Amino acid sequence: MDIQLLSILLMLCITDSLCLRCPEQIHLSFGDEHETMVVMWSIDIQIRCQVEYGESPDLLKYSARSNVSELPEWSSNALKYIHKAEVKNLKPGRRYYYRVVALDDNEHAVIRSSVHSFTTLTNDIGKPQKYLLYGDLGADADFPIYRKLEEEVASNNYTAIWHVGDMAYDLTSENGQTGDRFMQLIEPFAANISYMTSPGNHEIPGDFMHYRMRFSMPGIEWPMPLTKMWYSYDIGLVHFISYSTEVYFSHNEDYVCTQFYWLLDDLIKANQKRDKRPWIIAMGHRPMYCSNNNADDCTNRFISRWVKHGLERLFHAQGVDLIIEAHEHSYERLWPLYDEKVYATSYDNPQACVHVISGAAGNVEGVNWMRRRPEAWSAFRDDKTSLYSYGRLTIQNHTHLSFEQVSAQDNSLIDKFWIVQNAHGPFLKDITCEGPNRHESCVCPPLIRYVYLIIGLALGMLFVIFVGIICCFCCWRRSRTKKPKGYVTLHPLNNIEHEHYLVEGADLV
Ligand SMILES: *[C@@H]1O[C@H](CO)[C@@H](O)[C@H](O)[C@H]1NC(C)=O
Ligand SMILES: *[C@@H]1O[C@H](CO)[C@@H](O)[C@H](O)[C@H]1NC(C)=O
Ligand SMILES: *[C@@H]1O[C@H](CO)[C@@H](O)[C@H](O)[C@H]1NC(C)=O
Ligand SMILES: *[C@@H]1O[C@H](CO)[C@@H](O)[C@H](O)[C@H]1NC(C)=O
Ligand SMILES: [Fe+2]
Repeated sequence: MDIQLLSILLMLCITDSLCLRCPEQIHLSFGDEHETMVVMWSIDIQIRCQVEYGESPDLLKYSARSNVSELPEWSSNALKYIHKAEVKNLKPGRRYYYRVVALDDNEHAVIRSSVHSFTTLTNDIGKPQKYLLYGDLGADADFPIYRKLEEEVASNNYTAIWHVGDMAYDLTSENGQTGDRFMQLIEPFAANISYMTSPGNHEIPGDFMHYRMRFSMPGIEWPMPLTKMWYSYDIGLVHFISYSTEVYFSHNEDYVCTQFYWLLDDLIKANQKRDKRPWIIAMGHRPMYCSNNNADDCTNRFISRWVKHGLERLFHAQGVDLIIEAHEHSYERLWPLYDEKVYATSYDNPQACVHVISGAAGNVEGVNWMRRRPEAWSAFRDDKTSLYSYGRLTIQNHTHLSFEQVSAQDNSLIDKFWIVQNAHGPFLKDITCEGPNRHESCVCPPLIRYVYLIIGLALGMLFVIFVGIICCFCCWRRSRTKKPKGYVTLHPLNNIEHEHYLVEGADLV
């Protein structure tokens, strides 16, 4: 009895002294297979951990060990140890309960998290599925969207959340403290539903290190390598693709074509199964088009439309139904279009990709205002009232999908539309990606650095021509203002005068 009491006291001591904040920031994502769920968390000490789980909250009879990654030194304010556990062989369409437990050297539990729960994917492929979706969410507890997302997830109506890039502003800020705060803010819902991500420009600092460690996505090793921050995942009637637009904007551009050929291969395979899984939905952070009043990647036509340049032809050729983007802090929906050309002003059997930009979840940078005049491709736009809004995507059946943009401030519906597609498939028919006659959409467009090189060379040549013209002009002036012949053939003593004269002449130009 005494010994027992002593050991409990000792345990409390260990717990208190070793670990002040742990384990926390618990969140989920889909595993490589449908029967697997990934659980992740952070902790401030080096200690072994496991997930205990089961189908009843009172009987967590199974366990799964975790692997650990250590955040680098420069993240000194963040909890250092990030854990990932895979909970495997789960039954489809069931609710599971789990908690995270830290173990001492004798495999005794020293700290336990509270119990969370999730539902596994069903085998019924045709069942309607709903998703929550947004980009650009900062780590501020006052943003109304956090409360709203918790409410939405608690309704058990959703299959997953898709966060299409830009989180926390930034995960690395305050030496990692902002990242911890963001992960704490999403925990109330991200511990109950898969939190699926794409990298955005705010994930770039520190070589995407925090993004690559704090999240783990299906089909990618962990921590996620720079060579593959993209993935696809089949759920029900949808083939989801998450791609990285950041390959075009960071030194990660080495992987522009790695990603392109991965996407090509993935899309060709997805098209072979389109009768069973008709919808293809792709997500990436920076939009190809937008009508915001700034000089962003999607607004400037000439220099910076790299995502459009890199991927539009491929997505069009392979018949991606819907492209979801963010980055602009507003909401915009486009008519089906390809290469600036509007194909229809309805979503009744679109013959080109439909784009939706939903990057207004809430962040320190505020709203991005729209330009006064929308282009012909802009079907609906909202800047002011879109602040703190998010998307709801519903896959109804083989032919019908709906998208809603909802305000977290007053629950009002900002926009709603349906896409009806009776004949899913590539928008360019009868193209081949094999052999010498392969279609241009199957070839990775030239890298950004080559285009920069060409622009650089062109500017260099312009400069040389400009300098040449100036020189000629000077020579001409000089020859015109030359003094009588005797002046040129002076003896050395008078040379000083000559030079003096030239300087004066130059001043006049
Ligand atoms: C942990 O790492 C080992 C070895 O790399 C790997 O086989 C295992 O799948 C990993 N487990 C998790 C949960 O990632
Ligand atoms: C998460 O799951 C736990 C355990 O079932 C539950 O108590 C909590 O209300 C759930 N939260 C949400 C947002 O679904
Ligand atoms: C869940 O979805 C159903 C069907 O769309 C809807 O009637 C219900 O109100 C939703 N529940 C909540 C809590 O949002
Ligand atoms: C698909 O869903 C739409 C909208 O709910 C409905 O009108 C249509 O009849 C459904 N199609 C099939 C084949 O069930
Ligand atoms: Fe962004």
